[in-house]
Amino acid sequence: MNFVFWQSILEKYWGISSKLSLLDGEFDLNILVRSTDDKQYVLKIMREDCLQDFVDMQIQAISHLKSIEPELPFPDIIETISGKKFIQCEDNLGRTRLLWLIKKLPGQKYVEYKRNNLNVVKELGHMIAKCDRSLESFEHGFLTRSLKWNLIEAGWVEKHIDLIEDPSRKVIVQNIIKEYKNILPKLREQPFQAIHGDINDHNILVAGGLKDQPYISGILDFGDMCHCPRVCNLAIAAAYVVLDHDQPEAALTSLVSAYNISSPLTVAEFDLIWPLLTMRLAVSVVNSTLMSNEDPDDPYITVSQAPAWRFLEHNSQNSKFIAARLRSKCGKPVVEGADRVLSYLEEGRGSFAQIFDFDLNSLPMGSLSVENSSWPQNPFSLPLDEALKVGSDIIAKDGFWMGYYNEPRLIYTEPAFRNGPWKASDRRTVHLGIDIFGPAHLKIRAPIEGKVVVAENRKQHLDYGGVIILEHEIPSGDLFYTLYGHLDPKFLKELKVGDKIQSGAVFCTLGDNKHNGGWAPHLHFQLALMTDGIEKDWPGVGDPDEMYLWNALCPNPAALLNLPDSMTNYEPVLKDQVLRDRKSCFSNNLSISYNDPILVTRAWKHHLFDEWGRPYLDAYNNVPHVGHSHPRIQEIAAKQMKRVNTNTRYLHPIQTAFAKKILSKFTKKFDVCFFVNSGSEANELALRLARAHTKSKGIVTLDHGYHGNTTGAIDISAYKFNARGGVGQVDWVELIDLPDDFRGKFKRDDTDCGRKFGNLVNAAIERLEAKQKKVGAFIAETFPSVAGQIIPPNGYLKEVYKNIRNAGGLCIADEVQTGLGRLGKHYFGFEQQEVEPDIVVLGKPIGNGHPIGVVVTSREIVDSFADGPEFFSTFGGSTLSCMIGKEVLEIVDDEGLQENAKQMGERLLIGLREIKNKFHQIGDVRGMGLFLGIDLVKNNITQDEDKDLCTFIKNRMRDYRILIGSEGPKDNVLKIRPPLTIDAEGVDMILHYFEKIMKEV
Ligand SMILES: Cc1ncc(COP(=O)(O)O)c(C=O)c1O
Repeated sequence: MNFVFWQSILEKYWGISSKLSLLDGEFDLNILVRSTDDKQYVLKIMREDCLQDFVDMQIQAISHLKSIEPELPFPDIIETISGKKFIQCEDNLGRTRLLWLIKKLPGQKYVEYKRNNLNVVKELGHMIAKCDRSLESFEHGFLTRSLKWNLIEAGWVEKHIDLIEDPSRKVIVQNIIKEYKNILPKLREQPFQAIHGDINDHNILVAGGLKDQPYISGILDFGDMCHCPRVCNLAIAAAYVVLDHDQPEAALTSLVSAYNISSPLTVAEFDLIWPLLTMRLAVSVVNSTLMSNEDPDDPYITVSQAPAWRFLEHNSQNSKFIAARLRSKCGKPVVEGADRVLSYLEEGRGSFAQIFDFDLNSLPMGSLSVENSSWPQNPFSLPLDEALKVGSDIIAKDGFWMGYYNEPRLIYTEPAFRNGPWKASDRRTVHLGIDIFGPAHLKIRAPIEGKVVVAENRKQHLDYGGVIILEHEIPSGDLFYTLYGHLDPKFLKELKVGDKIQSGAVFCTLGDNKHNGGWAPHLHFQLALMTDGIEKDWPGVGDPDEMYLWNALCPNPAALLNLPDSMTNYEPVLKDQVLRDRKSCFSNNLSISYNDPILVTRAWKHHLFDEWGRPYLDAYNNVPHVGHSHPRIQEIAAKQMKRVNTNTRYLHPIQTAFAKKILSKFTKKFDVCFFVNSGSEANELALRLARAHTKSKGIVTLDHGYHGNTTGAIDISAYKFNARGGVGQVDWVELIDLPDDFRGKFKRDDTDCGRKFGNLVNAAIERLEAKQKKVGAFIAETFPSVAGQIIPPNGYLKEVYKNIRNAGGLCIADEVQTGLGRLGKHYFGFEQQEVEPDIVVLGKPIGNGHPIGVVVTSREIVDSFADGPEFFSTFGGSTLSCMIGKEVLEIVDDEGLQENAKQMGERLLIGLREIKNKFHQIGDVRGMGLFLGIDLVKNNITQDEDKDLCTFIKNRMRDYRILIGSEGPKDNVLKIRPPLTIDAEGVDMILHYFEKIMKEV
């Protein structure tokens, strides 16, 4: 490439002095131009035989679009000094070339931008719609040339079909061509216009950092513009949006619905999108097969087609079903005639034949929802004995009750209900029918005349058992379908597919649990407006994020039961309303996690569920130490609440039993406990004990530490008093540096760094003494948590404690975060540091969600305190709290949770360190047991903290349903701190998605 030559051309025609570099381009040369006044352009040097019309069409189209939609990100065309938009000149080899210059747009190619961000897709949908609308009025003679990429001409691929050697791939393409031929007449009926024709993932630019919302910064390359139905433009863009997308259906619907908002699509266009999308990919793979035959040594051709093949091989969807999806997303009838069927059902409501021999209007509704019930106890397993009892707590009328339509439930626990490989993968939860519970063997009548289209016995565990689907035709000729599940399969003796059932005729009976899949006897009654794509295997429950489709395809069947929709429709709590109410009822500094907050309605072990039953892996909450909703805690709490819950002014053996259990975890030095009800209160008491014993008020503590939210606890929590708007440092507190051997003054490779950090305490003692204050105590989280999950170097606390004690102070270990086995190898953090504190503070994990705080110390210290006023904490040491606290400690022992923390922590740490080796943005991975931190950096030489990246990853993990937090003085440390129950699958899920997100960055 003779850059000097092209520099002179740029200077001569455009008056631009510049530096040049080559960009990629298939046929034409694209040169990046950096002008001396710091502007960037792209010089387009067209192929030798390029027609003027080809360049003229693109330039005219861009100018046309810019005049109508100046906001859209199409490149500016830079005119020459003499006002020309393109020129013809000879290149350095004497060949005639057409040249034009455009302004370079910011951003990276969509194909390189690997995030599955649906907002970007929506923005693209709006842009394509505006682009199409503007091009309606654009004409150019070159648009009607023959072009292999024009979808109206795509039939050419058929004659090359034999080039595809793989037989299964060949069948895929053959089927696509067949469908394309079917829709071609309809496609030809659509109005023709100019379209861009090639909005593929190389021609879309995306800009924006981690902090700002990414946005589309450019749409390039108008070289494949052509004249054809406008829906082809959308289908072509859609073909690339879905490739390698985590949720191709969601991406497609987002794109199409956004387009439809900006420029409404016709019903015919909705139906054409999928066949055209697949045809575009078929053209693409056939074209590259042709190219690779011509140039077998070019590996790039095969590689570039891999995403298209991957998609075609894994997404052989029914096009009518996809059309239904797109139609319903855009508020159109889900299928032709759906509106007529719905009106028919509405008009008939109240006059259909009774399905049972009584009026259902008098039956009570019962809820099995995520929010209102605890069915099943373990949301990942529904044993048959529990399935049989489902709803037994609901007050029924003569044994009858009904279950809601549209109700999110956790009773569907089989892996078949999951949309991914993990337990916390999204799952289908929302009930798409109405359930009528009642005694087995009850007769069931057809609400309306119908034809049997399915009559089967599905014997699998928790399946339907006997199931019948009827097809119904309404006077307009439109069809709809009803499904009856959990039947006694003996109907199979009399009934066969094709049989007609008269309205009101008995055609089956309710099955008992031996024949209905194992459930409490009930009828699952569901309606569907079409069966393409679901055939006879209708989902009885839908993905909560796809209810736009399922509510349209399987609407509430209440009308056929002569019931009002309002009675049978479940209305889940509205998250937005709860959020609004929260804002009006509480202070603005009541913090809430994640950009998209989570409404939690159920939990189990290390899993949470929101109001729609979406699962989340809880890798953040240390409060449910032995797991959320632990059955032993539930049981003991419920029993005790029935007996007594009172305070420590009365005797109860559980108080001492709890105290003895705690003390059994300590050395003999520790022989007295205090029970309070929070970590903050425990720290307050620890300060009082130290003051009473030493008669000194001075405190030395760590910078960025946190000890609670009460006035005294805030005074010793630099994380709070030094925060923006904080109360500032009191004169009896002195701070020392965090023992952070990654960011601190002394580094990990210095074997003496623990002692050196520990020595810093002396200067703090001296600063206190300079103010005529003596040190009463040193208090610290043994492993600082909010300061960024710091693991102090060996020998650190030994040095600190020695110096503090020499100055007459006591040593307080705040073990709220680190105690009770979380660290795996050690029950308490101070054991790892090989020290014995004087006072130990325990907090939230010990109550597993019930408010408890404990202070543990020695008789000698207590005696100094006992001289003062009486000690009483109303809720501390209540009978209930003691029951729960003791149970938690016993569960840790009985279930080997400390050992689990060790093993799972090691698994996490090893995995995270492997990921760290692949990404320079990970400065440090540290941790012990299930107390881990990932320090994110902008640059791994300067190690500048990257808060934006940390926030981004935390929220992306939440998108993938994994909850972690962020901490550190600069909020750049990801904090992983799950309940101790986390298992290998949970750990692997964290590692999988963390790495995936790091690749997005
Ligand atoms: C180390 C530490 N100490 C004390 C507390 C305060 O506990 P509580 O919120 O129960 O008052 C916390 C709370 O996060 C903590 O992390």
